[in-house]
Amino acid sequence: MTNTIAALRSREVDDSRGNPTVETDVVTSSDDQGRAIVPSGASTGDDEALELRDGEKRRGGKGVRQAITNVLGPLYKVVCGMDVFDQAAIDKAMIDADGTSNKKVYGANAILSISMASLHAAANASNLPLYLYAWQLINSNKGLIPEELIFPLPMMNMINGGEHANNSIDMQEAMIQPKYGAFEDLPSALDACSEVQHRLAKRLDALSHGTSVGDEGGFAPNLDSDEEAFQLLDEAVSDAGFEGMFNYCIDAAATEFYDEGTRLYDFNGANRTSEEMIQILEDWVSKYPIISVEDWLADTDHDGWKLLTDRLGKRLQLVGDDLFCTNPRILQEGIDKGLANALLVKVNQIGTVTETFQAVAKAVKAGYQCVMSHRSGESEDTTIADLAVALCCGQIKTGGFSRSDRIAKYNQLRRIWEDAKERGIICLLGIAQ
Ligand code: PGA
Ligand code: ZN
Repeated sequence: MTNTIAALRSREVDDSRGNPTVETDVVTSSDDQGRAIVPSGASTGDDEALELRDGEKRRGGKGVRQAITNVLGPLYKVVCGMDVFDQAAIDKAMIDADGTSNKKVYGANAILSISMASLHAAANASNLPLYLYAWQLINSNKGLIPEELIFPLPMMNMINGGEHANNSIDMQEAMIQPKYGAFEDLPSALDACSEVQHRLAKRLDALSHGTSVGDEGGFAPNLDSDEEAFQLLDEAVSDAGFEGMFNYCIDAAATEFYDEGTRLYDFNGANRTSEEMIQILEDWVSKYPIISVEDWLADTDHDGWKLLTDRLGKRLQLVGDDLFCTNPRILQEGIDKGLANALLVKVNQIGTVTETFQAVAKAVKAGYQCVMSHRSGESEDTTIADLAVALCCGQIKTGGFSRSDRIAKYNQLRRIWEDAKERGIICLLGIAQ
């Protein structure tokens, strides 16, 4: 039975930083509906798809009224009457109509809102939860239920710095991740992460550090050095009684403290070369259970990335965020040059669901790990939790255990876990590395 896109509704709503973003509803000819809200980054890569902002005085220039006009006008004309189950065709039609490599004509926020809302509408039309519908779509397996699914180990943000907090820490994120096999299921792994965060709050409080949180729900204290973050994590993990059960992950977001001219990194009170940055990381890795490091170097510092990958790529997961921008073409260039060994997956960096799937497929084919990710500007939208499961990413980065915009994704993962179990699907947690 045909079920086509019949109507779109779109509105300006607000993200977790109180900035405008796009929410779109797709309504089909059978009156099935799907809704999605687009996220927004702060430490954005140069090659990200364009987020269209009005630039007027209103809302500090961040209004998205033009993006909404584009959804309701030209993009509606493009997708109206299209089969809601043909996600690839819907996305391709919007990409072609925009005609630019970074979606700057209609805006990636406009296009992605329709792309994600269509996916939701199609799942609803199929009477399937989003994760299962998306899994079937990815695996061209209409009607079949997977035998097993790999749920993502959370990379939970404990300490925020960089662009996500107004504090002394240069790296953007220090995270904890339950060790593969340390917890029997997803709910108990999430429970343990929460306990560590509560213990960390106590430690910070005892040291008279603030316990207010940054944009991604981790604490944002003024520490004396970035390394102190890992000493505190050691203490919090041990206080919570989980010694040896957690690894640590970093997102340096180094593009933000890199000087293109001098090719130096302004990190922890000194200007450092790529080589010196790598030495700092080697030192930390020898002292703390750090297993994953994202954007340790800037997106344009390819020589540095090559050196980093050659030196540490066998011991560490090296994740490219700004480096790859979830862009299949840029990722392929990185794979060819031997940069990094993992992909951070952010739907709005590329701007459609289909291209996100393509980026993941390319990464998996090259033996790269995939980490599904939120943005620092988020909302109650939980699409990425379902996509992480559908794509069997094995890892998700979606903030600390506070702020409803972050917790919403963890709560959705708990629901999906329960639903999959009820359907008799074998639920695995993480991928052995
Ligand atoms: P962003 O931060 O959303 O501000 O880019 C998240 C990240 O860098 O991973
Ligand atoms: Zn990042």
